[in-house]
Amino acid sequence: MLSNCCAVILAAGAGKRLKSKKPKALAEVLFKPMVQWVVDAVRSCEIEDICIVTGHGAEYIEDYFGDTVEYARQTEQLGTGHAVMAASEFIKKHSGSDVLIMYGDAPFISKDTIEGMYNAHKEAGCTCTLLSAVLDNPFGYGRIFKNNGKFEKIVEERDCTAEQKLIKESNVGMYWADADRLLFGLSKITPNNAQHEYYLTDLPMVLAQSGDNVDSYPIGDNDETASANDRVQLHQLNKSAAKREIMRVLNNGVSVMDESGIIISPDANIGRDTLILPGTVIKGKVTIGEDCVIGPNAYIEDSVVGNGVKVNSSQIYCAKVGDGTRIGPFAYIRPDSVIGENVKIGDFVEIKNSTIGARTSVSHLTYIGDSDVGEHVNFGCGTVTCNYDGLKKHRTVIGNDAFIGCNTNLVAPVTVGDGAYTAAGTTVTDDVPEGSLAIGRSRQTNKAGWAEGKIKK
Ligand code: UD1
Ligand code: MG
Repeated sequence: MLSNCCAVILAAGAGKRLKSKKPKALAEVLFKPMVQWVVDAVRSCEIEDICIVTGHGAEYIEDYFGDTVEYARQTEQLGTGHAVMAASEFIKKHSGSDVLIMYGDAPFISKDTIEGMYNAHKEAGCTCTLLSAVLDNPFGYGRIFKNNGKFEKIVEERDCTAEQKLIKESNVGMYWADADRLLFGLSKITPNNAQHEYYLTDLPMVLAQSGDNVDSYPIGDNDETASANDRVQLHQLNKSAAKREIMRVLNNGVSVMDESGIIISPDANIGRDTLILPGTVIKGKVTIGEDCVIGPNAYIEDSVVGNGVKVNSSQIYCAKVGDGTRIGPFAYIRPDSVIGENVKIGDFVEIKNSTIGARTSVSHLTYIGDSDVGEHVNFGCGTVTCNYDGLKKHRTVIGNDAFIGCNTNLVAPVTVGDGAYTAAGTTVTDDVPEGSLAIGRSRQTNKAGWAEGKIKK
């Protein structure tokens, strides 16, 4: 339904109060830039055509989104109205349809709000609808003025008298507008205010004065209005979002005994009867199955974890972990690793860009990099795949049911066949055929009585 609409997202502000080198809209809430939250909400309404207005630190935003959105450049930041004017060409292309305008520093506005407000906008035959909220503490928000219930204007906090500041009905900072009336309204906005800026908040007033139908739409949930203009507010957004995500997973059947240090990404899906323990951070797009125990102190980023998995004090990045596998304590699973079912990855084990077959056990002090390991392989303590020759990385291949003795070095490229053994302390430089034993170390000699002679000396 909204698929023929488009969206303009304002993100040109420096966010001086955040004291960052990057633009404010890239400041992160639960590791996700605020403007990405906004883009995700817009996309969840099936609005495909999105234009982000960039200015301060434009290259950071353009790098981040690449060609997934369009951009308009606001070279001088002369206000939110001026920012939308920078997107005029984009808006003209959508003549005859409706434009959603959002700010890049308000990450929590939901799909329901965007859609509900659009429906109200169309049903009332408005050319502009703005999102409003009655706030206990409206400090910093524009105040909404009405006359006999009819929208009149928005006055910015800075332009309000002490008495006007008592008004609690506030401008949240989201608008639906008819593309053609939007362009007309923008052309009428002037910078006659405390900041000498072109305020977008004058748009509904200008249109109302021209006889257009303009109305406000009350938000359903005040939590969605939060925005961050400084680090303290950003911290508050993180805290409230973290709490909300914990509530979300609790309501999906996940257990959390204590929330201390638990951060769960808004893009995480966690199965029922999974237990999340303190100090666990789940970042980005993560799927975790049912009946898992994650934590304490687990860090999982952009990964897929199966059912019944245990991850104890370990880190997993861009990897896949099969059902029933136990990881940790103190293991490090690096990108492009695929760990099979019922595998054991124990303490001080690092796995990188490798596949590990089902029921394999890598219990202690081992590095497996660029390797393809079969099923039911046992790694002795202290095994190292020597995957780098100083110029190139090479692969190690280990067949099913192999037994790798303690302290084996596997100098890649090398293959150990199915059911083969390597003796403890062996440096494997040649392929080991199926079923054989490789011993690559010098033979031990015992010098009888040697110690006594040394003591006498
Ligand atoms: C704005 C609204 C205010 C509303 C509040 C809600 C205006 C004039 N005021 O105030 O009524 O209650 O949001 O949070 O709109 N931006 C640009 N170019 C500019 C200026 C700003 O792209 O020249 C972008 C910023 O990057 C930001 C957004 O517009 O993402 C809002 O700007 P901000 O300075 O945060 O406005 P507020 O003072 O919060
Ligand atoms: Mg703001």
